[in-house]
Amino acid sequence: MLHDLLRRADESGDLTRDDILLLLGVEAPEQVRALLNVADAVREREVGTDVHIRGLVEFSNYCRKNCAYCGVRRGNREVERYRLEPDEIVSLALHLSERGIRTVVLQSGEDAYFTGEILADVIRRIKSGTDMAVTLSVGERPRADYAEWRRAGADRYLLRHETVNPDLYRAMHTGSTLETRLRCLNDLRDLGYQTGIGFMVGLPGQTLGDLADDLVFVRDFQPDMLGIGPFIPHPATPLGGCQGGTLEMALKCVALGRILTRNALIPATTAAGTVDVHGREKALQAGANVVMPNYTPDGLREKYEIYPNKRCLTEDPSGFQSGLRERILAIGRTIATGRGDSPKQRERADPPARLSTEN
Ligand code: 5AD
Ligand code: SF4
Repeated sequence: MLHDLLRRADESGDLTRDDILLLLGVEAPEQVRALLNVADAVREREVGTDVHIRGLVEFSNYCRKNCAYCGVRRGNREVERYRLEPDEIVSLALHLSERGIRTVVLQSGEDAYFTGEILADVIRRIKSGTDMAVTLSVGERPRADYAEWRRAGADRYLLRHETVNPDLYRAMHTGSTLETRLRCLNDLRDLGYQTGIGFMVGLPGQTLGDLADDLVFVRDFQPDMLGIGPFIPHPATPLGGCQGGTLEMALKCVALGRILTRNALIPATTAAGTVDVHGREKALQAGANVVMPNYTPDGLREKYEIYPNKRCLTEDPSGFQSGLRERILAIGRTIATGRGDSPKQRERADPPARLSTEN
């Protein structure tokens, strides 16, 4: 039974919600191992040994949102707010490019200071000075802003859907709706962005059924990128006293994410590396193929504390050069040299030829 299911997961990834729920529920260590191994094999076959490096720059921790789980939520008065100047953002990106990093991820809270125009200018300057891919992760915006940034040259956009359960969504995001979130994701895809979704594992009130629904959404949306990590309670938030998610459940979700998407770009998240020192390597061996070392300047990085003890805080500032690279090579993987664009975007433009019995 489980054996047949795992074979189908391996061969086609064609799974129903019930299949997904059953796999999420496996607990015997050898069965969990078998699931993660299938995902590792699918990753190897579909996208090879390469791990893609994305340089993360958290350029502002101002945020108009008040997500219940997040340490930089508007209501947290203990956070010292900062924003980098456009010139600083551009020069950080140029610096990353000189070091051979071919994607910069520009992430921030929902900060109105960065108007469509200001951010478009930053994007244009990076794109004209380098051959880097630019990934944005700046939250919910009007379609016009997304369109302006796309015209300025932005390639990719990360906007985790967080949960497809509308009630859980509302409980976590006072005043925001799942509907708006999904509208944003549809706009992004429609505008030609390589689009990333994702969710946290272990939110208070989240059931195994909710996670199965998130994975069904992943299966149906077929995102270019997929970020999954454990929820980590932050003491200065309403969820500070709640239990966090486990690495094991997060790894099962990463594995199912790989099985269901086949060739998506899936990061070994910082959150996975925070709940377990080897969390990121474990994720890389359960389907993940991306890492996002943090290049936010020293002195600011610790202010972007969406959850406590973010692993990167204790990494060397030149982070990736020391340590992470060796750890990737030590598990038998290679470091990608290309830009690491989404294979799915290519497939959408140019669908694979179907084997046909006609003509
Ligand atoms: N623990 C883990 N992940 C978190 N995020 C926000 N707060 C936390 C937390 N406390 C995730 C959300 C968000 C992404 C930027 O970080 O999924 O989309
Ligand atoms: Fe703001 Fe993002 Fe944190 Fe929500 S998760 S409060 S949108 S920074």
